[in-house]
Amino acid sequence: MSERVLVTSALPYANGPIHLGHMVEHVQTDVYVRYRRSIGDEVTWICAADAHGTPIEVNAGKAGMDPAAFAEKYRADQRRDFERFEIAHDTYYTTHSPENRKWAYRIYDALKAKGLIYKKSVEQLYCEHDKRFLPDRFVKGTCPKCGTPDQYGDVCESCGTTYDPRELLQPACALCGRPPVVRASDHAYVNLRKPEVHALIQGWVEAEGHLEPGVRAQVSGWLADLQDWCITRDPPYFGFPVQDPDFPGKFLYVWVDAPIGYLSSAEHHFAEEVPPERRLAPEAFERAWLAEGAPARLEHFIGKDILRFHAVFWPAMLWAAGLKRPDRMPVHGHLTVNGEKMSKSRGTFVNAATYLDAGLDPELLRYFYCANLGPGVADLDLSLEEFRNRINADLANNIANLASRVAALLQRAGPVEARPDAEIRELARRLLDEARADYLRLQLKAVVRGASEIAVLCNRRVQAGKPWENPSGEEQRALLWSVAKALLAIAMILRPVMPRFAGGLARAFGAELPRWDEGFDPFHGPVEVREKPPQIARLEARQVERLIAVAPEAKPARVSAAPSPAETATKVTARPAPVPGVIGYEDFARVELRVGRVQAAEPVPKADKLLKLSVDVGEAAPRTIVAGIAPAYPDPSRLVGLRIVVVANLEPRPLRGILSQGMLLAAGEAPDLQVVTVGEGIAPGARVK
Ligand code: 2FM
Ligand code: ZN
Repeated sequence: MSERVLVTSALPYANGPIHLGHMVEHVQTDVYVRYRRSIGDEVTWICAADAHGTPIEVNAGKAGMDPAAFAEKYRADQRRDFERFEIAHDTYYTTHSPENRKWAYRIYDALKAKGLIYKKSVEQLYCEHDKRFLPDRFVKGTCPKCGTPDQYGDVCESCGTTYDPRELLQPACALCGRPPVVRASDHAYVNLRKPEVHALIQGWVEAEGHLEPGVRAQVSGWLADLQDWCITRDPPYFGFPVQDPDFPGKFLYVWVDAPIGYLSSAEHHFAEEVPPERRLAPEAFERAWLAEGAPARLEHFIGKDILRFHAVFWPAMLWAAGLKRPDRMPVHGHLTVNGEKMSKSRGTFVNAATYLDAGLDPELLRYFYCANLGPGVADLDLSLEEFRNRINADLANNIANLASRVAALLQRAGPVEARPDAEIRELARRLLDEARADYLRLQLKAVVRGASEIAVLCNRRVQAGKPWENPSGEEQRALLWSVAKALLAIAMILRPVMPRFAGGLARAFGAELPRWDEGFDPFHGPVEVREKPPQIARLEARQVERLIAVAPEAKPARVSAAPSPAETATKVTARPAPVPGVIGYEDFARVELRVGRVQAAEPVPKADKLLKLSVDVGEAAPRTIVAGIAPAYPDPSRLVGLRIVVVANLEPRPLRGILSQGMLLAAGEAPDLQVVTVGEGIAPGARVK
């Protein structure tokens, strides 16, 4: 039975162009939406520019623009970038809209009516020169834990410690470089610890289907220590003024009205952007899509960095306003480029426009992303070499080349009657079925692998059957017919991922792809080659390398802060600066890596993420190592006997009351993480170097 689904992707800040990191989520969502539509579901996909907050207000000021006009400019740019990547949101509205203002006040009033808003005085850093309170990212200073200079006010990039900006040593305003002062101000807080609210959030988090199990475990961990939420900000600010006499002069925090933008943008879409016969007035829209019990699903696609806002605060806001809570919240990881966090200084912060300007087809990136995306929160690495290899091997050689060879042979063979090859047909039917389930589970890498697998079999059979030696022979024609039909199966599977390529492939073999009903089977009817199948040119190294040539846009876009005192100091020193990210051999040699054999592994009580391992590292007694790998190893006994790699000279430290005597190496991110292992032949205690 077909379903009605309201799908959203996170709203990009209207503070810069779309980059390839944004694209991970929008490709994932686009593919999911296209798949759902291909099976007949009624899907509306909402996105918008997130227009509010301090960085937009500051950057607009620097550009000499009104913040609303500044946000509109980026909204237009973003929209164009998405369209060029075949990302087809149904709407790309803005959070700075009359509809969003109305919804934001309604939700604020609902929280207030439930007695959930209270006043609290908060101390924050304040710059007397710029006359503003400084959000975490507007303060820089020295990490209080490890002493690394030039760190933001919330987290140290070097040691990972999170702290209150007031704890930074030698703090400086990121705008003017002057030391800030501490100042108090009254703010509105939402009481999330109130038992009924806490229970509501917990119920939502734990319900089946809302979050993937690993993500659920992480959010449950936060709920154990739930803090109330500050929802106002002081001027100067770009946002909606709070209309509550208890909080004069305050603004709603951007993270309040951002998710509300999903609802208001959807309302706007149905009121103004659909054909007249489908238009809905606000009340009818709410009944059809948002009310408790509405006959529609609500699904939010987000990145792991904004999980707390969506999985903790958002269900409570919806509940307070009497609206349905989300039915599903798929969470993805971040994009890395060549194994590292995207970085402007290294030129690996790649904008969508840079990709297109390098002459690369957006469908290739869509394919690569899907080939590496599962339902988990593992980061996705755009290794340029792997990108090139994957496109050349899977698409250029395996699929596109097969299609053009077979099309040419079929043209020589003349009309071919149906005579399915059992092996090819069975595999294609099975993988078509599996792809349907994999799309819904967002197991996109399995979908893509399935399409490839069909092509691998066809290539093997064509090599063995040598139809070019006698294209009109009975056997050969049957094989060509089956391969042409298998290519239609591949087109159906890949249609959501590469709509243009898949459409061209199907048309080449005489078909328009129909709705993807259960049991769809292309193995009947004649084959007629109508046009040349689409080609995929092999990617050359120099083509993909253009992506990371340090481009003119490789300069800060988000908060263009004035150089901090630390940055200025670096510029005047005479010593050549070390290459960023490169360490000397001595640094590496200080880390003592040893092979350890796991003797026992068990969960740590009341710590969802931790396992306690007993590891033989060739010493008199085994070491105890506490590691945050539990989500990846629901059955810890799987670890017993493995030879793992241990950082043996790490200072021991207590974790949940257990002294951990080392650290183990693991790759990936929970729940798809794997501990690094070595083969049987290496004895415990052996040095890894
Ligand atoms: O992190 C961000 O880029 C936010 N602009 C996402 C907002 S998503 C939603 F809540 F609006
Ligand atoms: Zn300042």
